[in-house]
Amino acid sequence: MVGALGRHIALAGFMGAGKSTVGARVAELTARPFVDLDALIEKRHVTIPELFARGEAEFRRIEEETLAEVLAGPEAVIALGGGAVLSPLNRERLRTRAFTVYLDVGVETAWKRVRGSNRPLARREEDFRRLYESRQAVYVQASDAVAHDVDGVLLGALGIAVLGEILPLHPVVVVADERVLELHEAPFEAAVYSVPSGETAKTLAVVERLWSELTIGRDGTIVAFGGGSTTDLAGFVAATYLRGVRWVAVPTTLTGQVDAAIGGKTGINTSRGKNLAGAFHFPEAVVIDPDVLTTLPEKERRAGMAEVVKTGLLAGREVWSLPEVEMIRACAAYKAGVVLSDPYETEGRRAVLNLGHTFAHALEAGSGYRVPHGEAVALGLLAALRLSGLPTDAVEELLRPEPVAADLDEAWAALKRDKKGEGVFVLLEAAGKPVVTTVPDEDARAALAALIRQ
Ligand SMILES: NC(=O)c1ccc[n+]([C@@H]2O[C@H](COP(=O)([O-])OP(=O)(O)OC[C@H]3O[C@@H](n4cnc5c(N)ncnc54)[C@H](O)[C@@H]3O)[C@@H](O)[C@H]2O)c1
Ligand SMILES: [Zn+2]
Repeated sequence: MVGALGRHIALAGFMGAGKSTVGARVAELTARPFVDLDALIEKRHVTIPELFARGEAEFRRIEEETLAEVLAGPEAVIALGGGAVLSPLNRERLRTRAFTVYLDVGVETAWKRVRGSNRPLARREEDFRRLYESRQAVYVQASDAVAHDVDGVLLGALGIAVLGEILPLHPVVVVADERVLELHEAPFEAAVYSVPSGETAKTLAVVERLWSELTIGRDGTIVAFGGGSTTDLAGFVAATYLRGVRWVAVPTTLTGQVDAAIGGKTGINTSRGKNLAGAFHFPEAVVIDPDVLTTLPEKERRAGMAEVVKTGLLAGREVWSLPEVEMIRACAAYKAGVVLSDPYETEGRRAVLNLGHTFAHALEAGSGYRVPHGEAVALGLLAALRLSGLPTDAVEELLRPEPVAADLDEAWAALKRDKKGEGVFVLLEAAGKPVVTTVPDEDARAALAALIRQ
């Protein structure tokens, strides 16, 4: 079971950690219902202080009963009461039905938030601090991840660690991009299988070689070390080798860190086109180390920035103005939220991630794949913003897209063939408000033509 896929997201933690506020926002971003356990109990019974007055045992019994009922319902985001994980029964139920995140903001912040609130356990700072200390171990033991904000919960829920340490998973093999191996040490001391640099690795021939050369058993883990091409390839090998083994992604490109390594889509190219053979197979963990990007060629960085700008427009946040590590973290968290809302792309919610990509794919096809993906995405974002009637300055300033040489008729034919269906595009109602909508053919064709050099 990977992260919160197919399970509830439960937030544990001390009073003042912000479980209700953070939980409500995580629910919104993952399109799941939000349940505040204490509020639900109060709605059905009496206020918590009143219940406590009848004796803590009675309160805990009601809490156990209510949590069991919520856990039996549809996948939700649940804010637990501060003491809920003290019950072994609750812990046991959470273990199987939920991905539990310990939300911790530190004792200083928590105390500042609750002091003077008249909560029974928050009257004296000394007692508050003592209780906080004594609860720490319980929260850690009951939880699958620790976070201090909304993005941290989303990242944890898909096993994404920014600057994190990889857990010692054994036995391990590393599948690495040969170019990356010349520049960086493999993230593990383990057998290393080097594969061709970039896109050229995404072939059945490379897959077959790995199928026949790998020696790990069903309990083994494949670590992918490279850009999106390597994670797509190694993830696909992990999905198929011995009917599937675990894998961990260590993306080394900006595109990989903010996009390609997140979301469980793996695959290779076939003679008919890109990514036409593949599988959903979520990595156990995605480990993001921004230091590996220091060797990234400028061209690859720009390609990644196109996906960063796409994410910022979707999220309605100027993520590109953040320091690099925070920018990457925010983008990875946004994608994690969308993926958690629709992990296997059955609800159509993941479609928003295609902002600008319908035009981009058309330009790539219409140029015989001479226009690089990042440049095509930059132009695609320009078209999407124009059709949305929104300002284009962010895209123009950050990505400086210039019309490219491509055949308009071929690009148009490719656009019509695009799997998103007839005339359906991702546009923005406003920054942060993507919509999937139709565009009349003549408008779409004119928008496409404006991206092509005459
Ligand atoms: N699965 C998904 O959801 C998803 C999403 C987006 C893109 N993708 C796929 O990702 C692929 C593109 O991945 P990408 O843009 O990350 O590039 P890439 O993996 O193709 O690598 C691009 C180049 O950068 C080099 N490189 C990688 N890391 C480096 C580093 N740290 N220093 C120096 N050079 C480095 C590689 O050797 C290669 O030459 C495409 O095949 C695309 O289909 C998949
Ligand atoms: Zn893209």
